Amino acid sequence: MSRRLKFISVVGARPNFMKVAPLHRAFSRVESLTHRIVHTGQHYDANMSKVFFEDLELPKPDVYLGIGSGSHAEQTARVMVEFEKVLQSEKPDLVIVVGDVNSTVACSLTASKLLIPVAHVEAGLRSFDRTMPEEINRMVTDVLSDYLFVTEESGIVNLKHEGISDEKVFLVGDVMIDSLILYRQKARSSRIKELLHVAEGKYTLVTLHRPANVDDRDNLVKILSILGKVGTLGKIVFPIHPRTRKRIEEFGLKGDFDSITGLVLTEPLGYLDFLNLMMEAKIILTDSGGIQEETTYLNVPCVTMRENTERPATIEIGTNVLTGLDVEKVVALTSECYAGKWKESTVPALWDGKAAERIAGILAGSLGNGPTSGERTHPRHTALTN
Ligand code: UD1
Repeated sequence: MSRRLKFISVVGARPNFMKVAPLHRAFSRVESLTHRIVHTGQHYDANMSKVFFEDLELPKPDVYLGIGSGSHAEQTARVMVEFEKVLQSEKPDLVIVVGDVNSTVACSLTASKLLIPVAHVEAGLRSFDRTMPEEINRMVTDVLSDYLFVTEESGIVNLKHEGISDEKVFLVGDVMIDSLILYRQKARSSRIKELLHVAEGKYTLVTLHRPANVDDRDNLVKILSILGKVGTLGKIVFPIHPRTRKRIEEFGLKGDFDSITGLVLTEPLGYLDFLNLMMEAKIILTDSGGIQEETTYLNVPCVTMRENTERPATIEIGTNVLTGLDVEKVVALTSECYAGKWKESTVPALWDGKAAERIAGILAGSLGNGPTSGERTHPRHTALTN
């Protein structure tokens, strides 16, 4: 009889929860597999974390590390110290990390040093911009990973260029889109638009939190100018990230933001409320990574206020346009959108709601417990369990 496998998935920050939820569901369906969720506590406010567990029907994390905020080195190091203890007592067969946040790199590094195999979900994305902390996290995580699950073709090409063996790389689709497909219907019944007094198709949705945009006063002033102009086209809903709120206050710009016509500032929203707002927005202005993909799937116009993207498919075949913080360009594009002009989206291959299922099938097969049992036993896995 085969041994029971144990997987640990790591969540830390807001964009991780909607990626691990479908994985948890898929792993729960694999017989003789125990799946544990470790929450590093990188994000800890109820509206940045707890609400997502409720909305996405995720069980409470098995382990909560309570790391909190800090500099990159502090946060990463604290996660490593605490996660190492978990790995030493739990002795999992595999650690699964998602996305590109500090918890992702910290946990892949810790597992790797203990010779525990690592699976990276959302591997291979590259902005080629090392001023973004996420780019460093992606590169380091990918080089350490034993299984690299890729969302779009560009990921395959990038990993090949970096010399990562083809055998470790799997194009599986997008687990974040799995969540979107599963909860799209439920999100329709959210009452968030009533609460915020906005009407379907008549508002601009804004999210901004990248350090390059919000940690610099001049850039926040450009954002003020953009919102001031866009606010004349329709209402703006801006759920404000704690980093952004803090900077607006520190730079003495709170009064300026509060006086923008048509601007509805809210606390960060839960998954279902935000999905509802995203599905029914006229246009979204953002600097997020994931929203570029969600809007492409939903065929909702998206302007990404960054100079580059690690998700080129959203530009090439999706609804996304890159503008940086070019005030005139953002305003001109938003006006065009309100006038009814925007490109139509084609959904990238395999963004079909089944990415997590594919990942579970590959891992269960490879680690010796699933339908393709015995096909591929990982050498590092063998080293750990001997
Ligand atoms: C992190 C990720 C980023 C992701 C974003 C989504 C890294 C390097 N960055 O950025 O890739 O897009 O999450 O939100 O991992 N704070 C709170 N409450 C919280 C969490 C944060 O008040 O629950 C405040 C703190 O002041 C903290 C600041 O936000 O210092 C930044 O949090 P941090 O986790 O360092 O990075 P994010 O900007 O959220």
